[in-house]
Amino acid sequence: MNELVAKGKKRLDWARDHMPVIENVKQEVSENGYLDGKNVSMALHVEAKTGILALSLREVGANVKMASCNPLSTDDSVAEALREEYGMDVHAKRGQTDEEYYENLTNTLKHAPNVVIDDGGDLISLIHIEREDLIDGIAGGAEETTTGVVRLRAMEKEGTLRFPVMSVNDALMKHLFDNRYGTGQSTMDGIMSATNLQISGKNFLVVGYGWCGRGIAMRAKGMGASVMVSEVDPVKAVEARMDGFEVLPTKKGIEKADFVVTVTGCKDAVGEEAIRKSKDGCVLANSGHFDNEISKEKLNQFSKSKRKVREDIMEYTMEDGRTLYLLSEGRLVNLAAGQGHPAEIMDMSFALQMMSAEYVLKNEGLEPKVHSIPREIDEKVASLKLESEDIEVDKLTEEQKRYIENWKEGT
Ligand SMILES: NC(=O)c1ccc[n+]([C@@H]2O[C@H](COP(=O)([O-])OP(=O)(O)OC[C@H]3O[C@@H](n4cnc5c(N)ncnc54)[C@H](O)[C@@H]3O)[C@@H](O)[C@H]2O)c1
Repeated sequence: MNELVAKGKKRLDWARDHMPVIENVKQEVSENGYLDGKNVSMALHVEAKTGILALSLREVGANVKMASCNPLSTDDSVAEALREEYGMDVHAKRGQTDEEYYENLTNTLKHAPNVVIDDGGDLISLIHIEREDLIDGIAGGAEETTTGVVRLRAMEKEGTLRFPVMSVNDALMKHLFDNRYGTGQSTMDGIMSATNLQISGKNFLVVGYGWCGRGIAMRAKGMGASVMVSEVDPVKAVEARMDGFEVLPTKKGIEKADFVVTVTGCKDAVGEEAIRKSKDGCVLANSGHFDNEISKEKLNQFSKSKRKVREDIMEYTMEDGRTLYLLSEGRLVNLAAGQGHPAEIMDMSFALQMMSAEYVLKNEGLEPKVHSIPREIDEKVASLKLESEDIEVDKLTEEQKRYIENWKEGT
């Protein structure tokens, strides 16, 4: 076994040891048999936890082909271990070009999938644009992230979505933990690995106070930063204020920010005005799905030179002499410079993915739209998670159930 493969295998083993929920789900899915002999095409960040999902799908009888959903998020050691040690069909490498990225996505479709598992919507959109011939054979899909769900809802609204897709992101057991605690922890991990700079005592601006933004703001505050939040939604802005953060427009926050993280799912969240006003020495990072949240076009336009100063840091010297640092080309910093979400978090998200893949096969013929994850699936994952940590919870008595259902009884 070469060194790279050995490293990847160790990472896979470690992840598996910390993913008891999917292990449990796998046994039940295997007994039910819906995935047996089915072809699954996946586009997810190719790293250790995703490797466990792929291997688990294969262990329940599915044929899996996988690619990365981002050019910079592949862990090459894991990709190589999956190929060499497990004979998995993996089409991904870190730092692939845009052309290679789409070629790899296309390669996952070679076996004509029955189920598609996507993160960000690129694979599903590719099928709708270039491989319509495959659509009749697809029972359904499952989408991992907020941005993917937004794109799929746009397709549904337009009437162009042609197979059902389960919105894994909207499951409570996904976004309450993955987006909030997962992105919170791993974004800090990515920033710290990339920069090796101090967080405590610094001014930290979080742009977007959704599920991910809440987690990042919470963790940055916990590490001793002075945290500011920018929002476009007045309700979220009030929430951020009540949570104890300074709320202000991006262009004002960035004037004093040492670190800025975008997590909006929106383009140019840090655009021209913000780039012109940002503090000298500011570190810019993105944890939203696409690399368009911080405008690289404007950074290039207003800088006189740029150079790579560390593996994951591009230094821009602006025309007026300020220096700005962009991490990981503005791509998901938690995966490009960090190791992604903790294994225990992805355990729950991927248990949902596996149950969603089973759900579309079990309920073949679902309407071609974005479907919510049924409450029973959320509760099942939650119960398995509690069980895996030996946590017991209370149960309503019959009398309490009757009381709750009886509207006539007050006190
Ligand atoms: N890095 C990761 O591992 C990871 C994990 C989960 C989700 N994501 C991605 O992160 C992004 C955010 O996800 P989320 O679940 O927090 O979404 P969300 O919808 O809960 O939150 C996004 C927030 O950004 C705000 N916003 C939108 N445009 C803005 C702008 N221009 N300026 C300021 N605020 C703006 C919205 O009002 C909203 O409150 C998505 O792209 C999602 O796919 C990344």
